[in-house]
This record gives sequence, structure tokens and C-alpha cells, in this order.
Amino acid sequence: MLPLLVLHGPNLNLLGKREPGIYGVQTLESINALLTEAAQKLSAKLDILQSNHEGVLVDRIQAALGHQQGILINPGAYTHTSVAIRDAIAAVGLPTVEVHLSNIYQREAFRHQSYIAPVAIGQISGFGAESYRLGLQALVTHLRSQD
Ligand code: DQA
Repeated sequence: MLPLLVLHGPNLNLLGKREPGIYGVQTLESINALLTEAAQKLSAKLDILQSNHEGVLVDRIQAALGHQQGILINPGAYTHTSVAIRDAIAAVGLPTVEVHLSNIYQREAFRHQSYIAPVAIGQISGFGAESYRLGLQALVTHLRSQD
């Protein structure tokens, strides 16, 4: 089993209730269930965490070293602000895929910049919960191609 870390950033715990016109009606729990099922088919094992706190996300990225082989992350609003999360990803050097439910390039200008994208192997944005599934598939394909 390929061990992977899945991180959800701030406010994603409110999915389902939070601006459903933008983020859809699926809860975080149902997205995690969808990911866990997809991971089983891909022979991957997920360790999943949601946090509203930047430092908690940084600590968890650091702790992945030696335990997980890749990271799937929706950094939420930290996408557009967090040098610390970017530096943590660069520090551990684990292949990372950035995902977003909404198409961040179709929205306000402040969402067009991602501090994470330059240290990620790729980004998937705009497909709702499907962004996560596509991101997981891409991460697993990338890691297996490195073997
Ligand atoms: C988001 C997009 C971000 O701009 C926003 O702050 C979020 C969610 C998305 O999944 O579309 O919290 O990452």
C-alpha cells in the first residue's frame, strides 16, 4: 500500500453548508469517503487531516517525512497567503498535488496567486469533489512512475 497524506485547510470542515453555490453540497466527510474508496482501488493508504490552523498543517507536513510518500492538499485560503506551508512542502521534498473545488482563476484576483503551486508537481482546480479524485489519481500515477 502506498502511504499518502491528505490535507484540508481552513473552513473546509464547513463543506456542504459553506457557500454551496461555489463549493457544492458535498460534505468533507463524503469527500473523504470518496477518496478512501478511490485509494483502495489504487492500492494507496490515506492519512487524512483537516485543520483551520496554519501551524498544525506545517507540523503535519513535517511529520510526513519517513511515513508518507506524497501529499494531496487543498490549502484553502492558505493557498494565497502561506509561505510557511509552501516552505514545509519544499523542505520535506515529498511530491505534492494541490487541489481546489472551485476554479480559483475564475474568481477574485487575490485567489489567482498560489504560493503552493511552484512547489507542487501539479494543480487541479474547478471540478468540485472530482478535483480531489483526479488529484489522487495523478499523485499515485506520478509516484508509481518514479519506481
Ligand atoms: C478553495 C479556494 C480558496 O480560494 C478558498 O479560500 C477555499 C477553498 C477551493 O477548494 O476552491 O477555502 O481552496
